[in-house]
Amino acid sequence: MKMIDTDMKNKVVWITGASSGIGEELVYAYNKLDAKLIISSRNRDELFRVKNNCKNQINVHVLSLDLRDTEQLEYKAKEAQKIFGHVDLLINSAGVSQRSRAMDTAINIEQEIMNINFWGTVALSKGILPYMMANGGGTVAIISSLMGKFGTRQRSAYAASKHALHGYFDSLRTEVFDKNIHISLICPGFIKTNISLNALTGNGHPHGLMDEGQENGMSAAGCAAEIVKAIDQKKEEVYIGGKETKAVLFKRFFPARFSAYLRKAKVT
Ligand SMILES: NC(=O)c1ccc[n+]([C@@H]2O[C@H](COP(=O)([O-])OP(=O)(O)OC[C@H]3O[C@@H](n4cnc5c(N)ncnc54)[C@H](OP(=O)(O)O)[C@@H]3O)[C@@H](O)[C@H]2O)c1
Repeated sequence: MKMIDTDMKNKVVWITGASSGIGEELVYAYNKLDAKLIISSRNRDELFRVKNNCKNQINVHVLSLDLRDTEQLEYKAKEAQKIFGHVDLLINSAGVSQRSRAMDTAINIEQEIMNINFWGTVALSKGILPYMMANGGGTVAIISSLMGKFGTRQRSAYAASKHALHGYFDSLRTEVFDKNIHISLICPGFIKTNISLNALTGNGHPHGLMDEGQENGMSAAGCAAEIVKAIDQKKEEVYIGGKETKAVLFKRFFPARFSAYLRKAKVT
């Protein structure tokens, strides 16, 4: 297995969704690699809990933000840039899932999912890109999902938000390639985090349940280790998880059979 050979010591990594799950484990992974870290999400207490768990706390700076405040994100990027003087890697891990059928989901809840997962990620990335380009380059990683490659029951707005990220960032990649900006789309399958507990139902209330898929999924630490490796190897798109990741090829080569399978599949 290829070792992580990038020297992260003088690198600044900005991670959203850092208060929980995959983002939290990414903080620990990059902290172990001696990177300087900016950690973001809404809940400052949880961000400080994560900082306190780090080995090199001096290298960790808390910057709280709400991805729904799209107009504020350009200023948050300016703040992030000022903290260590540069940002080399932005990992957009913050996100919210859905547990409700399309016809039972209020349009404002669908818009909220799009605002957090898509517009928030876009605005934050566009905020930091001019600084990265001026610094000679960098990487923007986006934690998408297998739901960015196909859709299933009770995930319509979530799958839409993740598909939109692929369209946007695949296009952006072609525009910023010659500025030494690398774009990495990471698609996890089932990962054991609080994502299903925090997922929104049709009226905006949290689902509040640990679903079977997540319960039996890959650990968040295992997922974070795979993400660090994929970013180090400058992968444009990767699928991380268990056998569910095979679904991407199933859909590509047997779309009708895949569609029939999904209609019958138990989805949690
Ligand atoms: N776990 C899975 O099975 C799985 C599978 C595929 C993809 N993913 C993706 O992986 C990413 C991380 O999810 P996770 O599994 O780690 O779930 P998680 O444990 O629920 O973490 C979600 C993170 O997003 C942050 N967040 C939510 N709303 C926000 C907002 N409005 N503004 C800023 N931050 C916000 C949360 O922090 P605060 O509450 O402090 O704001 C939290 O840190 C998400 O993009 C998710 O779609 C997860």
